[in-house]
Amino acid sequence: MNVYDTELISGILEESGFKKTSNIENADAIFLNTCSVREKAEETVFNRLNNLKSLKRKNPGLLFGVLGCMAQSMKNELLESKPFVDIILGPDSYRRIPEIIKERSKTNGSIVDTKLSKFEFYDNLFPSRKEGVNAWIPIMRGCDKFCTFCIVPFTRGRERSRTIESIVKESKKSVEQGFVEITLLGQNVNSYRTSEGNFSELLLDVSNIPGVLRVRYTSPHPADINENLLQVMRDKQNICNHIHLPLQAGSSRILKRMNRTYTKKEFLKLVEIIRTYLPNCALSTDIIVGFPGETEEEFKETLEVVEKVGFDSAFMFKYSPRRGTKASEYTDQIEEPVKQNRLERLIELQKKMSLLANQNHVGKIMDVMVEKESKKSEHQWAGRTDGNIWVVFDKTDENVKDIVKVKIDDTQGVTLFGHRIKLD
Ligand code: 5AD
Ligand code: SF4
Repeated sequence: MNVYDTELISGILEESGFKKTSNIENADAIFLNTCSVREKAEETVFNRLNNLKSLKRKNPGLLFGVLGCMAQSMKNELLESKPFVDIILGPDSYRRIPEIIKERSKTNGSIVDTKLSKFEFYDNLFPSRKEGVNAWIPIMRGCDKFCTFCIVPFTRGRERSRTIESIVKESKKSVEQGFVEITLLGQNVNSYRTSEGNFSELLLDVSNIPGVLRVRYTSPHPADINENLLQVMRDKQNICNHIHLPLQAGSSRILKRMNRTYTKKEFLKLVEIIRTYLPNCALSTDIIVGFPGETEEEFKETLEVVEKVGFDSAFMFKYSPRRGTKASEYTDQIEEPVKQNRLERLIELQKKMSLLANQNHVGKIMDVMVEKESKKSEHQWAGRTDGNIWVVFDKTDENVKDIVKVKIDDTQGVTLFGHRIKLD
């Protein structure tokens, strides 16, 4: 979502006459778009601000802006500890950036706007993107789920869904601009709901747009996955066979404390249903270790679920207390070395599972979309399978955006290696 928001902000600025510079030393304004989801993300922004401060000494007219979730959640700390920051704007205030830049040049002191809106969808504004095959299309913003560890409902505000019409319009425009893959985005993408239709209906409409070769979506909540959605995914070839299914924890007691609304058993059942509809569906996940009160036995349940499901890939995190969230007030916080140890054990297991999943693909012929030149060689392409796995193969006569058949010969780490197959 932040990648998209940055494209959107660039679009708003370019529309009002600003130009991007590739040399930061030449910039008249620098905006950092920030994330608050874990403490580490916030530390990165504070370090970055400290490093950028010297630029202001050289160019006193330089404007600094902090945008997004951290602006929302840490405005007071920012104002106090980083007085050289001129502009602080929350995730619903980007529309005002050009006006605020003008305002700021007339006044001294920082300008802060962190009002959250029930209505801001950034409709009719188009992001600035030029490269790649994929266009991100936000379909809903905010989250009402209130998982007890998560700051998103506080920084991004209440859930709101854009109209199908406006989403289809933006998707069509992206196709006209040359993008062939659409990724529907939302903090809670499948709780999308409007009077015109729900998520499955929207997905079907987007997959029916001529020129859309692939559709993805992220991130769904397991509780909002239903059979209707799986039917649509099964019936439409251009909807990618991949579901990001955040587990968060394997123990039902911890899941309850997280307010995740499903048990271990229900999660495993859902995986089974998904695999009945979509036998080859790739599954990825998010997992938190060391949530307050998590015992060694409960952590082992997470390992057990990871082993049972065999996720193709996973994002794994140590629990990080977030101010204002319920879990940060629990008195049984887990000590750092225990969290670190659990994270390392989980990563080790997941590495094995990813390798197993990838080894399963060796010998198969897979559809790969050519996306870019491989980083290692100008004679090779890198592209993704519809299950979201990167494949590297030697160039022949194909072009970027083509979907070609690749026979998988080998796997290393998370990447597959293969060669192009021409069937005719
Ligand atoms: N600590 C650690 N991980 C978190 N996530 C969200 N909040 C926290 C937190 N407080 C993780 C979840 C979520 C992903 C985007 O970030 O796994 O799915
Ligand atoms: Fe955070 Fe996702 Fe839970 Fe919403 S559903 S509170 S964004 S983890």
